[in-house]
Amino acid sequence: MTTSTATILDTSFKKEVFEGLSAFPKYLSSKYFYDKNGDKLFQDIMAMPEYYLTGCEFQILSTHTEIIGELFRDRENGLDLIELGAGDGKKTKVLLKYMAENNFNFVYKPIDISENAVEMLSNNLAKEMPALQVDAEVGEYFEVLERLKGFNKRKKVIMVLGSNIGNLKHPKAIEFLSKLKDAMLADDLLFMGFDQKKNPQQILNAYNDETGITAAFNKNVLTRINRELDGNFKVEKFNHWEVYDPETGTAKSFLVATEAMQVTIGELQLTVNFDQWETIHTEISQKYDDKIVAWLAKEAGLIIETSFTDSQQYYKNYVFRKK
Ligand code: AVI
Repeated sequence: MTTSTATILDTSFKKEVFEGLSAFPKYLSSKYFYDKNGDKLFQDIMAMPEYYLTGCEFQILSTHTEIIGELFRDRENGLDLIELGAGDGKKTKVLLKYMAENNFNFVYKPIDISENAVEMLSNNLAKEMPALQVDAEVGEYFEVLERLKGFNKRKKVIMVLGSNIGNLKHPKAIEFLSKLKDAMLADDLLFMGFDQKKNPQQILNAYNDETGITAAFNKNVLTRINRELDGNFKVEKFNHWEVYDPETGTAKSFLVATEAMQVTIGELQLTVNFDQWETIHTEISQKYDDKIVAWLAKEAGLIIETSFTDSQQYYKNYVFRKK
């Protein structure tokens, strides 16, 4: 990269788009799906019947509310409940209600990369549960983890729901888990959702709905590049394509160019050439089983204390402690 290119790439969005679209094969990070429009599309995905993950995790939290809540409780000093990637907090509210109604002394700290999501959640909680102590923050996972170390005056429970870890490849997932472990003390807990391996067709359907919501979500990264980086992608010339490998448990999303084309991205002073049927890899959604989760935990220096599943065993929430 020349010095003048380096000065153009002054944000991580610009830098990553430049790198991903200059690479072969091309890629873009799914973290850039989430602007205001992307947040709304993701809400719509979570409400789709094909996207079973949300309903399964909701069922787990609703069925085992008391056991989970009591695992979190510290009668002496109370606790900080920190949620990474809180989104709309719909599932968490089940637990928050239980804790609020059963004399837990706690502060709820939702953290999300989306400013919009954090604002909506804070407003909503202030209305629905006015007595709840909420201390929300906007930030990216890895950057926020550093700050978590400051929360060590009393027990903390870190929650990561929605199988968000599935958007990281295993080495990054281990790095993420071990950073969480570094931020934990002996009594702290990590409560995390992992979507499980299952009938491959069911997984494909969840990421390839007929209504095209997931396709629009995937393409939103191109719309964002057009709007924010002065790009001229013809979004309708790309197809959403999903594959699932049952051996590795990895679902992969692509955008496929349906014709050869040239795209310019003004802010990056970049011209990108696409051959017909060339791909941009945009997301992985990893699926797990107990063995993979135990391996990830071991690599990260965590131990699994217990786990909870739904009636069909599609999804699991694991409770980890520092080894
Ligand atoms: C946020 N994340 C866990 C979702 C997933 O299942 O990978 C994002 C998503 N992508 C397509 N549909 C949903």
